[in-house]
Amino acid sequence: MIFLKTDEEIELLRESNLLIGSTLAELAKVIAPGITTLQLDKIAYEFIKDHGAEPGFLGYDGYPNSICTSVNEQVVHGIPSSKMVLKEGDIVSVDCGVYKNGFHGDSAYTFCVGDVKPEILHLLKTTKEALYKGIEQALPGRRIGDIGNAVQTYCESAGYSVVRELVGHGVGHDMHEAPEVPNYGRKGNGIVLKQGMTIAIEPMIVMGKRHVYFENDGWTVRTLDRMPAAHFEHSIAIREGRADILSSFEEIEKVLGTRAI
Ligand code: MF3
Ligand code: CO
Repeated sequence: MIFLKTDEEIELLRESNLLIGSTLAELAKVIAPGITTLQLDKIAYEFIKDHGAEPGFLGYDGYPNSICTSVNEQVVHGIPSSKMVLKEGDIVSVDCGVYKNGFHGDSAYTFCVGDVKPEILHLLKTTKEALYKGIEQALPGRRIGDIGNAVQTYCESAGYSVVRELVGHGVGHDMHEAPEVPNYGRKGNGIVLKQGMTIAIEPMIVMGKRHVYFENDGWTVRTLDRMPAAHFEHSIAIREGRADILSSFEEIEKVLGTRAI
């Protein structure tokens, strides 16, 4: 069942999502060699609470934290830890959820820790661009496969692989609603997109082969070949003739300045 949202509901979703952008911008200020991913989690938790909202991930299916922090070959759902000390040259995907006024926001950005190799920067840049290629397809009358096809074509032509085991999703009263939004697919396949649908598009793109496995913690997803992975996510609303991006990287990139991807 796909829930279509009213304009008022979309504005509430925007509020949750914009708070994610602000939270990730707070993290952008401190992401540097020496910080642990658990420290990032604490900052995010407090920032979200201070803004009158709830961390959407905390307690979701028993998830123990407010953000997912996935480092290097970790693709998504990395659990923050005091043992995970970020070091020069690492990349870290920070995925964050906010629940406010009955609606979930969901957005992610992959950050560089200090100086990162050019080939890894290229992976990040391509993944972020692929997200926008997908968003361009999120129009009434297009199909879900058009989004996945745009992401897949863009990344594979750059020589990267698309992770298949995890997908984007509808977002609203629940963090994960129908439909599933794969980052691969065929043009013209899948359900027809309609005005009022709100979805999270989240390419998970890897430098090597697409195969992943789940670690023993039950959450963390890693590449099998231990090659790096990138992940960017926006929540969007399908409006008349346009995709309305509800989350924002603007504050993050203002903090990053010339270090923005
Ligand atoms: N953005 C993630 C996703 O859509 C949500 C993290 S899962 C959680 O899969 F359980 F940690 F919340
Ligand atoms: Co998501």
